[in-house]
Amino acid sequence: MLAPRGKLVYLETFGCQMNELDSELVTSQLSALGYRFTPDADEAGVILYNTCSVREQAEQKVWSRLGLLKSRKSRQPDLLLGVLGCMAERDGRDLLRKFPHVDLLCGPGELDKLPLLLRNASTTAEPAVALQGNTSRRSATLAAAEDSLERLDLSRSFSPGDQRAGGRSAYVRITRGCNKFCTYCVVPFTRGAEMHRPPDTIVEECRMLVEQGVVEITLLGQTVNHYRFEHDAAVTVDGVTQPQKGRSFTGGHDRDPLGGGRVTTFADLLRRLHDEVPDLRRLRFVTSYPRDFGDDVLEAIRECPRICRYIHVPVQSGSNRILEAMNRGYTVEEYRDFIERIRACLPGAMIASDVIVGFPGETEEDFEATVELMRWARFKNCFVFKYSPRPGTPAYDRLPDDVPDEVKRRRNNALLAVQGAISQEIHAAHIDRTVEVFVEGMSTVQARREPALASEPPHPRGAIGLTLNGRSLHGVEAEEDDCGSACATAAEFVPESDANLVQLSGRTEGDLITVFQAPRARAQALIGSIVPVRIEEARTLTLKGVLAE
Ligand code: 5AD
Ligand code: SF4
Repeated sequence: MLAPRGKLVYLETFGCQMNELDSELVTSQLSALGYRFTPDADEAGVILYNTCSVREQAEQKVWSRLGLLKSRKSRQPDLLLGVLGCMAERDGRDLLRKFPHVDLLCGPGELDKLPLLLRNASTTAEPAVALQGNTSRRSATLAAAEDSLERLDLSRSFSPGDQRAGGRSAYVRITRGCNKFCTYCVVPFTRGAEMHRPPDTIVEECRMLVEQGVVEITLLGQTVNHYRFEHDAAVTVDGVTQPQKGRSFTGGHDRDPLGGGRVTTFADLLRRLHDEVPDLRRLRFVTSYPRDFGDDVLEAIRECPRICRYIHVPVQSGSNRILEAMNRGYTVEEYRDFIERIRACLPGAMIASDVIVGFPGETEEDFEATVELMRWARFKNCFVFKYSPRPGTPAYDRLPDDVPDEVKRRRNNALLAVQGAISQEIHAAHIDRTVEVFVEGMSTVQARREPALASEPPHPRGAIGLTLNGRSLHGVEAEEDDCGSACATAAEFVPESDANLVQLSGRTEGDLITVFQAPRARAQALIGSIVPVRIEEARTLTLKGVLAE
């Protein structure tokens, strides 16, 4: 049955995995209330953008969408237009001044209030607004009284088929917000203080997802390794244990002395999930922070075979001077020491990183130090971003954006060339090896050829990490995604034109994208399973192989 137009929603998501998860939770919450979703904005009565503020480019896309909707809104006044997520929180009422036809603003910490906002927006002429402001940082107590957002995470209903990898892959949030205040970053202002969800709740959520057929879970947090839940300070409201304000353990890579008892550390959580959800085939986590990543976490990964040996740990710069200006809280030497600890404990682990070029004051010498670090670290991939000044951040207020754009672009491309060569070598080392691939769906090329077949848009989540700024590298075309990281759109191997075969795409344990051909009749059954693939060819961004069953 068709939903009334006022309940037909078009939701578009920009940005990171945290936003993808928020959109999934919003979808599930609104579906339970009778809203239906459409991929066609033209037929929707409600248009929602779940937005990202990390770089200006991501915001520009939303500004242009909003601008285009102005005339439609004047023709169709009952159309509801809402901005969710980080842009709503960052821009707040200024956004309403610029775009008075927007009916609703909802920050990422207020998404549980969306149904109420939609109702208010449809009945009153005033915009409906729910923003956190900075209230989330005011409470000095360890446990914030009642954390209503927790209910949104708890309420998830999972409908296989309309999710990633045919419902076999899921995100689970373990922390929200961030306390690190890197000087370039808006996240501490848009997502608020770091909050850690209770471990029992996380285990229960994962168990439920696996019972519903999920094969792979990715734990999400801005600084996931700083997860820490103090049981003595737990607060329960209406029978629900509340998330807790983060009090990270700052003991370098020593063990937290309270871990395993009064405190659940990140290592404890990983072990619990591994042992208490035995049917979970793959457990991943993003994103790690280079400081205070304990040996206990590395040991948990080593001893638990179903935890993937893949660590995404952004370095941001190879220059101590710039790291200090960024307020990153570690030196290049400490970062190198961490990489060495990973390699010693987890041979063969894949490491990925993020780098910002053109941070205020970055000299050629600073940049060369980043090149050197990248050559040394041999990341499997590295997202490279041009510094984007963000209003409200300490760098925006204090440091002039003094590296010219063409210098940023040159440095960006130089790093991509260095990383491209390393990625190519890492991929090539897999030729003639058989790897286990978690099949996510049709490959990008296949999905473009046959959009009706694709279970998700022809734009795989978080695809490979080379930021190309719309340029071509190694004969590969790529485009920046909403997060500013890169997705290669034509990076995959072109499949043979054989009507009986389709090209599928998946990932190895180490997060290497792998494509292979499979009989068309088996394709749907393979999506969401883990299969052995013998690698025959390697490119900078992708491996290609054959099913080795
Ligand atoms: N400019 C450019 N890149 C940024 N990032 C975060 N803030 C900015 C900014 N203002 C990058 C960092 C981070 C990734 C998610 O985005 O590299 O790790
Ligand atoms: Fe932003 Fe730094 Fe927090 Fe990452 S750790 S979200 S870069 S402030």
